[in-house]
Amino acid sequence: MMTTTLATRGTETTADHRSAIAETELDTAAAQAFAGRMLGVLNDAAVAILTSTGHQTGLFETMAALPAATSAQIAAAADLDERYVREWLGGMTTARILHYEPATATFLLPREHAAVLTSAAGPNNMAILMQHVAMMGEVEQGVIRRFREGGGLSYGDYPHFHRNMAETSAAVHDAALVDGILPLAPGLPDALRAGIEVADVGCGRGHAVNLMAQAFPASRFTGYDFSTVAIQAARQEAAELGLTNARFEAVDVALLTDDGRFDLITAFDAIHDQAQPGLVLENVRRALAPGGTFLMVDIKASSHLEQNLDVPWSSYLYAISTYHCMSVSLGLDGVGLGTVWGVELAETMLREAGFAKVEQKQVDADPFNAYFVARR
Ligand SMILES: C[S@@+](CC[C@H](N)C(=O)[O-])C[C@H]1O[C@@H](n2cnc3c(N)ncnc32)[C@H](O)[C@@H]1O
Repeated sequence: MMTTTLATRGTETTADHRSAIAETELDTAAAQAFAGRMLGVLNDAAVAILTSTGHQTGLFETMAALPAATSAQIAAAADLDERYVREWLGGMTTARILHYEPATATFLLPREHAAVLTSAAGPNNMAILMQHVAMMGEVEQGVIRRFREGGGLSYGDYPHFHRNMAETSAAVHDAALVDGILPLAPGLPDALRAGIEVADVGCGRGHAVNLMAQAFPASRFTGYDFSTVAIQAARQEAAELGLTNARFEAVDVALLTDDGRFDLITAFDAIHDQAQPGLVLENVRRALAPGGTFLMVDIKASSHLEQNLDVPWSSYLYAISTYHCMSVSLGLDGVGLGTVWGVELAETMLREAGFAKVEQKQVDADPFNAYFVARR
């Protein structure tokens, strides 16, 4: 098979590859099957962006609450333009996400699909994730330019990144942060109840900090992020919740000067896209009090490409890295670790930063991430 020939010649030069391909007879059946697969990719990519739109316009939530309804009824219930809604319904119906009844021209979101595409799905709401696909499309031209010229992008190139990210992580944190994630570190919930100093690096819009501050009123929480827009949203949520034990600072965590100040530091998906991740990890270690805990949450994948072949969402991880995580790091003249830096490298870097004890754990509600509990 053509694909096998290519895969087994990984160490040869490009010229060798070309001559090997030329000598191999084209397997037309394999080529046809591959073309079929790529057609499926085209269609599914379109479904991804339609799903993102359905989420952002509230169409899934609206339809979940409706019996079978016409496009006009659905548009009215969602307060949207009927012509756009009708076209979207067509795409969703042909994707078999909606059921269409031609006799009545009515559309239905089956309960089983609503259970995966609405807030009823909690941390497993797949519609939230589709927004990241749409975001990648928004910056594609800028990324293509960097393929040619090198360099990276800035956070300012992503007007919706912090909102999308906050929604993605909030779905997990609302479901599992207090009762499933924090107890990963033995004794941590008791310490939080008694009252400790906590920092969250790369806190984004601060929802995790605010959730913890609400659950543990005797502890004090500081969220750090260099996005002033995200910090503003974090402060606003804290104010709305009436929290007096959560504060937020717009700072670059590569410049942190805190020394021995915190009993717990958390980083939720905030290390792999750092410009200087090694330095940030050292800063975190130094900012911990003796015996303090660092809870680092980051992408669950291997540092070895071949071990990611069977991760069902691995192409998505490499894509989000190309169109965001690696690119924003490179945009700050950073090392560009990328989303798929992998748990092996993560553990090595934690040890290099001076963490003597590092344990890796999992959370059922969050298959995308590995949870590292590291002690100073
Ligand atoms: C992938 S987002 C995660 C945000 C948040 N922890 C969450 O789970 O929703 C990474 C965050 O790190 C922030 N960030 C990246 N580099 C930073 C730096 N050097 N100093 C402070 N914040 C940084 C970004 O602004 C972004 O909000």
